[in-house]
Parts: sequence; structure tokens; C-alpha cells
Amino acid sequence: MPNLFISSHPLVLHKLTKLRSNKTEPKKFRELVREISGLLAYEATADLAIRPCSVQTPLTQTDGFDLQEKIGLVPILRAGLGMVEGVWELMPSAEVWHIGIYRDEQTLKPVEYYNKLPTEPTVSVCLILDPMLATGGSAVATVDVLKRWGAKKIKFVGIIGAPEGVRKLQQVHPDVPIHLAALDDHLNEHGYIVPGLGDAGDRQFGTG
Ligand code: PRP
Ligand code: URA
Repeated sequence: MPNLFISSHPLVLHKLTKLRSNKTEPKKFRELVREISGLLAYEATADLAIRPCSVQTPLTQTDGFDLQEKIGLVPILRAGLGMVEGVWELMPSAEVWHIGIYRDEQTLKPVEYYNKLPTEPTVSVCLILDPMLATGGSAVATVDVLKRWGAKKIKFVGIIGAPEGVRKLQQVHPDVPIHLAALDDHLNEHGYIVPGLGDAGDRQFGTG
């Protein structure tokens, strides 16, 4: 699948296994989501633009680099919220713009309920954060919103994807790279990813 990046980092694989376990309690689950998100974001930002600069060390002047891009983190509420801190630690000057979307339980279609983006884009690269890419409806709707806003460079950072969701996002928005910790087998009849980890929002917030 083009533009799809599945992490093979041992730490990601180890933490993902713990995340999947039905024995993992919400506190540990949140820690793992935060840690995996940071590791995935590290990989997803390997091509950020930099520009040469100069820096004075205690000993001498030397060459260095400045990040050239202004980054926006775009968590999809609710479950994407838990991914923010781990990524933000790595790029503390990033802006965070929340998008509220939930899946209608019957139709599995995305329902948008919160969006406070300003009229003009304020960032040059957007990282959409959502642990689960299931049917792909929520991710596609979020990219639609960001493109209407004027965002030029968008990446999706998730934890587990289903082939159905990856195909849909790639079909509608082939320019958006997808970074995941795992590509799972299929969706079940309720739209849940199998083997997956269950409901990512409920498991983080203890609402299941
Ligand atoms: C989950 C998940 C994604 C969406 C993925 O959110 O966090 O946003 O489902 O499914 P899709 O690819 O089929 O659109 P959910 O609708 O459960 O909302 P919540 O995070 O508020 O619980
Ligand atoms: N949303 C989740 O939280 N989990 C799934 O498996 C699918 C959608």
C-alpha cells in the first residue's frame, strides 16, 4: 500500500502488545498510548524541513539546524486526546487544534460536532492524531476539514489501522501519508478492528 508506514521499532511492538491486552487498565493504557504516540511521531516527522543556522557553544561557534516548519497537532476527539502529550513533548511549540468527530453506532458514518479552527491556516504541517483507523470515515472527514481550511501538508498518525480504513483514506486522500504501529486483519460486523484493542476512547477514559 503506497504512503503507508508501519513501525517495526521493537519498543513500539512491545508496547502495542501490552496496549492490546484486555488486562491493561486505563492508567497503563493511557501511558502506553502516550509513549507509542511519541515513538510514531518521531518516525512520522523524519522529513520535516530544517534550515542551517549557527549556534554558540560554551567553546565556539558552530553550525546547527532550525526547524523550518510550524507544526499543528490535530487530535480527533475523544480518543486522539491521549496521543497529544506524547507527541507534544517532542515538539513543544506545536499548536493543538481539536476536531470533534464520533462514529454513529448504527451507520458507522462520522458525525462532526466540534471545530474551532481559525479562518486561515496557522501551521504548515498537520499531524492528525487518532489511535484507530477503522472504516476510515473519521480520518477522511478530518482531512476534508483541514484541506478546506487550507492545510497543505497533512499526515495521519494512528496506532492500529484496518485494511478497509487504510484503503479508504488512501483512495480519497492519496497525498496523506499514514503512520501506524500495526495494520490489523479486518473489521468485524460492528466496525471494530480485529484483533484490535477494543474501544480506544472507552479504554482510555474508563467509560467502557
Ligand atoms: C473511534 C476512533 C476514531 C473512529 C475510527 O472514535 O477514535 O475516531 O472511532 O472509526 P472510523 O475509522 O470507522 O471512523 P469514536 O467514534 O468511538 O468516538 P470517541 O473517540 O469519542 O469514543
Ligand atoms: N474505534 C475504536 O475505538 N476501536 C475500533 O476497533 C474501531 C473504532
